[in-house]
Amino acid sequence: MAHVELRDIYKIFGPRPASVLARVRAGEDKARILRETGHTPALRGVDLSVEPSEMFMVMGLSGCGKSTLIRHVNRLVEPTAGQVLIGGEDILAYDDARLRRLRTHTVAMVFQRFGLMPHKTVIENAAYGLKIRGMGRDERREVARGWLDRVGLKGYEDSLPRNLSGGMRQRVGIARALATDPEILLLDEPFSALDPLIRRDMHRVLVELQRELAKTILFITHDLEEALKLGDRIAMLRDGRVEQVATPRELVERPANDYVAAFVESVGEKISL
Ligand SMILES: Nc1ncnc2c1ncn2[C@@H]1O[C@H](COP(=O)(O)OP(=O)(O)O)[C@@H](O)[C@H]1O
Ligand SMILES: [Mg+2]
Repeated sequence: MAHVELRDIYKIFGPRPASVLARVRAGEDKARILRETGHTPALRGVDLSVEPSEMFMVMGLSGCGKSTLIRHVNRLVEPTAGQVLIGGEDILAYDDARLRRLRTHTVAMVFQRFGLMPHKTVIENAAYGLKIRGMGRDERREVARGWLDRVGLKGYEDSLPRNLSGGMRQRVGIARALATDPEILLLDEPFSALDPLIRRDMHRVLVELQRELAKTILFITHDLEEALKLGDRIAMLRDGRVEQVATPRELVERPANDYVAAFVESVGEKISL
């Protein structure tokens, strides 16, 4: 069974999304709908399924709906239409208690801008998910310390985020996410704010962790090279629609259409699979 499944998801932003759903379904132009109704169709009929322990990449240009898509998985965004299933369960039917459990135990998120609390130390940040779960201070700090070690931040426990480089801050973000031992990791352009060399370090950190932890990972990127390098599979998103879902090799060797082909050509010989 798929671990995470999005079924025919539509997401329209604006005051009365349901009122324009039919027009969006009919495939009307996005710019025209915005102009005439003030609504933004962000996702249009998205179907995706992510297998257990898969590193699944969602790749697309800025504004194509990537953040909107990933936020459906922890219900930070609710769809206008469609279904979201985790382990076969319809999470849109969850009550508050079940939703809270989803967010504190099942799913954890890593953000592009790290999302650390500036006045809290590194270890307090890393332990935060456990704190909201109600774990005691000593215990949660011990768990957090272990994860900070794992991401190479031993000795920085009592530092403040502002005294860390971008790469180190994102290591804290990863430690914080992993400390809660989630089944599913959501990474929304986690390395986009980092310099290329640091990004490469972070790729290594993630690959090594994943080899051992085998989490189900949904990873958002606008960088095709990153998607090809890290992904088991890649979904190419364009203007809120999925253009192709494929392994890196398939994507390069058999792009589904001209749009995907143009993308693949743009990275061209730089990659070797
Ligand atoms: N809360 C919101 N209200 C209105 N429009 C939004 C909102 N969030 C996103 N959008 C719009 O939805 C589209 C997709 O945005 P987003 O998912 O953030 O794209 P990406 O992460 O790929 O850059 C964009 O046109 C964006 O302006
Ligand atoms: Mg985004």
